[in-house]
Amino acid sequence: MKERTLLFIKPDGVRRGLVGEVISRLEHRGLRLVGLKMLRMNRDLAHRHYEEHVNKPFYPGLEEFILSGPIVAMVVEGDDVVEMTRTMMGKTKHTEAVPGTIRGDFAFSTTQNIIHGSDSPARAQVEIANFFKEDELIG
Ligand code: RTP
Ligand code: MG
Repeated sequence: MKERTLLFIKPDGVRRGLVGEVISRLEHRGLRLVGLKMLRMNRDLAHRHYEEHVNKPFYPGLEEFILSGPIVAMVVEGDDVVEMTRTMMGKTKHTEAVPGTIRGDFAFSTTQNIIHGSDSPARAQVEIANFFKEDELIG
């Protein structure tokens, strides 16, 4: 079923020059970009985006990292795109991310793991609205 998801390249991915590599993988897989922007997150957006994690012990370090530089956010469309992009991203922990996945090929830290992707279609709708206005998405 055709759906949309919210992805962003985290500050480590931008700093390391992996923006083109990540977008290229998504495009080569046949996914369609419908929105794209570079921005700096602020504390308010970080809290909204990571609302499920704000009370966890790793949140202060995660927030410091995610505010440490610009990110590249995008909305991508395709059949079953949420599950597909989660598979392409690889596991959260760098030790478990399998080679061939984005994290498995580039991440060497659990916090600094290159890419974010929504983990369910319902969550994707909320996250897309956190980052993009309706008129910033190409139908
Ligand atoms: P994401 O939300 O970024 O797509 O990653 P995910 O679903 O694979 O992982 P999640 O559990 O939602 O965690 C969100 C992000 O928080 C950082 N994290 N650090 N140090 C730690 O124990 C730890 N655990 C999570 C990572 O940046 C993770 O992607
Ligand atoms: Mg997550």
